[in-house]
Amino acid sequence: MAQDTEDRFISPHVEDRRRFADLLERTSTVIVKHLQERGSLPVDCSVPPKSIREELMKQSLPAEGMTADEILTFVEDYIVPWAMPMTHPRSYGWVNSPPAPAGILCEAIATAMKGGLDSSDTPSACLMHSLGRWLMELSGFVDEDGTPHGMALLLAGGSAANLNALTVARFWAARRDGWNIREEGLQGDRPSMVYYTSAEAHSSVQLCVEQLGIGTCNLRRISTDNAFRMRPEALRVRIEADLSEGTRPACVVASCGSTNVGAIDPIDEIADICEEFDLWLHVDGAYGGIAGLDPAYAKATHALNRVDSLTLDPHKWLQAPLDCGALLVRDSRINQANYSLVPEYLASSNVEDGMSPQPWEHMFELTFADRSLKTWASIARLGREGVRKMVINCNNLARLLGELVEEADDLEILSPPSISTVNFRYTPKDAELSDMQLDALNQKISDAIAHSGEAHIPTTKVNGAVSLRACFLHYENHEEDVYHLVSLVQKFGGQRDRIGADQ
Ligand SMILES: Cc1ncc(COP(=O)(O)O)c(C=O)c1O
Repeated sequence: MAQDTEDRFISPHVEDRRRFADLLERTSTVIVKHLQERGSLPVDCSVPPKSIREELMKQSLPAEGMTADEILTFVEDYIVPWAMPMTHPRSYGWVNSPPAPAGILCEAIATAMKGGLDSSDTPSACLMHSLGRWLMELSGFVDEDGTPHGMALLLAGGSAANLNALTVARFWAARRDGWNIREEGLQGDRPSMVYYTSAEAHSSVQLCVEQLGIGTCNLRRISTDNAFRMRPEALRVRIEADLSEGTRPACVVASCGSTNVGAIDPIDEIADICEEFDLWLHVDGAYGGIAGLDPAYAKATHALNRVDSLTLDPHKWLQAPLDCGALLVRDSRINQANYSLVPEYLASSNVEDGMSPQPWEHMFELTFADRSLKTWASIARLGREGVRKMVINCNNLARLLGELVEEADDLEILSPPSISTVNFRYTPKDAELSDMQLDALNQKISDAIAHSGEAHIPTTKVNGAVSLRACFLHYENHEEDVYHLVSLVQKFGGQRDRIGADQ
């Protein structure tokens, strides 16, 4: 029966599409204001007052739709003022950077096109191949002759990339030992698989091992040297012991830029051991995978050309908008053998011969957003030279901070500058404080700095001591920021009674 024209459902989205230019102008004003004024707002203003948080949590579903203007007003009032710290140049926390403006623009375009990477022949999926080669070139994931070699997958972040790699390593190790984990799962009566990493590895490595059914009792935490790098000799000893006990060493996860201190494991020596014992070598370079662009780290990262897989997060040091974590894999056929499952409704009738396999045949996600265009744009805007200079700039700032800390008689280095990270603490000249008092004081300094709105330097622990951890990843960081940070720490450190650290 034909529907009465009056009864026909007309979606409000139709009106918004018609008015899109006006709505976009209003939205762009909001974004432009945010980008222009961000520097003058408190560095960490990401947490709104309780009343706003409650308002946001108790929103009821409107019976009738809100207008697009009402929605934008809501966003302006309740969301936009509470910006994440890493969008401010004086945020030194975590391992996170602001989104490149070119990336923000391309993200919006990709969203409008609903550009996804769930097919191999869309423009963004094609672009992903170039982007993959760029990431290989920037990190040194190349052949002997320097040519990028492998496949890149774009995932949600470093954790997702590590999970993808460690899952494929499990498949590979099972196949090496003559069985098919996709068929048998982990239910068979087989000796345990063992994974190896350092005591410094990111927590996602342990999470992966837990989720994969390997179990933390089969994750060996290899000890580190005094620069927080995995000790290859200790790795070898542990592998030999495991072999003699009848377990099956499967995979080593090394770090290229550990989260806490920026350490780079001796990848070359670890690669030798993996070759000797036939183990999968994955490197977590989510943060530091591009560190070798700084000549000072070229030697330490050179052996990335020998590893089986490498995590490298463009949303960390490469300033891609969230989210984009990349996994570079040397032999895409192993990924495909682990993940490919093509039911009739996904089998494409028009896949040309020789075309690249579908991204989803190499990973767990099927439909996902276009992570390629925004990331491509963020890197394209800098070019190889721009990325190189940006990395060197960040590392130089860490070096400068290290020097200033060494020179000061009220500051102490806890981990020397490694790539763009430095750990240090305030140690007053006028008082002998116990370790516990120093921990409390440095936590209070970090809190007071955050509260002042002038910078953001959260704490971590290094060798058990509470540490101020500075990580430089912002494209707009300069030497003045480093001097400012040191003076802030000294200012608040000198006000122990005022910041409530004087027990
Ligand atoms: C070395 C390293 N690996 C993995 C991760 C996890 O990355 P994501 O937060 O993107 O999942 C991080 C996060 O900081 C990291 O520093």
